[in-house]
Amino acid sequence: MKILGIETSCDETSVAVLEAKKSGFDILANVVSSQMKLHAKYGGVVPHLASREHAKNIDHVMNLALKESGLKITDIDLVAVTAGPGLVSSLIIGATYAKALSWKHEIPILGVNHMEGHIYSNWLSRKISKNNFPALCLVVSGGHTQLVLMKGHGKYKLVGETLDDAAGEAFDKIARIIGLGYPGGPIISRYAENGDPAAFNFPRPMLNHKNFNFSFSGLKTSVLYKVRELKRDGIYLTKKIRSDIAASAQQAIIDVLVEKTVKAAVRHNVKTIMLSGGVSANRLLRNSLKKLEKTLPKKPNVIIPDMQFTTDNAAMIAVAGYYNFLGKKPRTDSWKGIASDANWEIFS
Ligand code: KG4
Ligand code: ZN
Repeated sequence: MKILGIETSCDETSVAVLEAKKSGFDILANVVSSQMKLHAKYGGVVPHLASREHAKNIDHVMNLALKESGLKITDIDLVAVTAGPGLVSSLIIGATYAKALSWKHEIPILGVNHMEGHIYSNWLSRKISKNNFPALCLVVSGGHTQLVLMKGHGKYKLVGETLDDAAGEAFDKIARIIGLGYPGGPIISRYAENGDPAAFNFPRPMLNHKNFNFSFSGLKTSVLYKVRELKRDGIYLTKKIRSDIAASAQQAIIDVLVEKTVKAAVRHNVKTIMLSGGVSANRLLRNSLKKLEKTLPKKPNVIIPDMQFTTDNAAMIAVAGYYNFLGKKPRTDSWKGIASDANWEIFS
């Protein structure tokens, strides 16, 4: 079965072609056109510029993906398009384009949840079987920080989430406070490599609470106060000080993410821990979670997506579309039911 994935929920226009086989997924193409440079000068994604870029680029990205896959559009069995959550003006570009394709070529189409796509990014590079369930998924992106208990395909229960800023958002805001660029996550982790994680003792919010929720806005404020204090004392934010702040803030964020994941994994007795979302590109987080395979009493499998699938891409949307297809089997006129929903949640 051949699946065309389309992703335009934020600032990446992406089209992928996947073949689902018994042995796993062959990624025939996964073209990602990033708008990062365009938005960087504004310090964050500007929605109307994002949708304009999607509209300008989507047909080109789609043609590149098809060419790379060696297939024609008529070879495609299913179109899977991100229908939410995300920026509604961006979502609509992908959904409208996908609906037109589906209508014209009479290909069944499914609207896919972006966060479910992130979870399924783990399926792209390895075979995951039913024996891996129940799994605990730590989903960490620019807009979400959630601990999701996955009991089977399409069966999700929210066991914890952030009460304010998402982890990626915290990285982005802290980077702005110390005068680094956007997006903050990759820059903070680069600076952190040369910094001392123990230089500043930033708070680990909600670490000792009994629930599995997170809160990162207090940590961000604490960094802001520290920077003001340094400036007031006439201390210039040298590269060394910025690196120390980056390393200390990163350590605080990762400590909380890992500790809450450990507690939820033990409580729900899971066989597998999975990581996903843009923040899963963070090396400290990847290494710290991987260690749990040996240190947790039940020795769970820890599955981490390949680096290329950590940030937004259409391959993950295609895999999620495939598993949704198995449960729903849409018809060729299914394009009529596709609607974008900026706040779509996967929990029933
Ligand atoms: O999943 P994603 O690509 O887009 C959303 O759906 O939000 O995640 C983007 C987020 C940004 O906040 C970015 O700063 C963060 O992922 N990020 C990182 C790293 N790479 C990207 N955060 C920490 N460390 C990284 N290496
Ligand atoms: Zn995302």
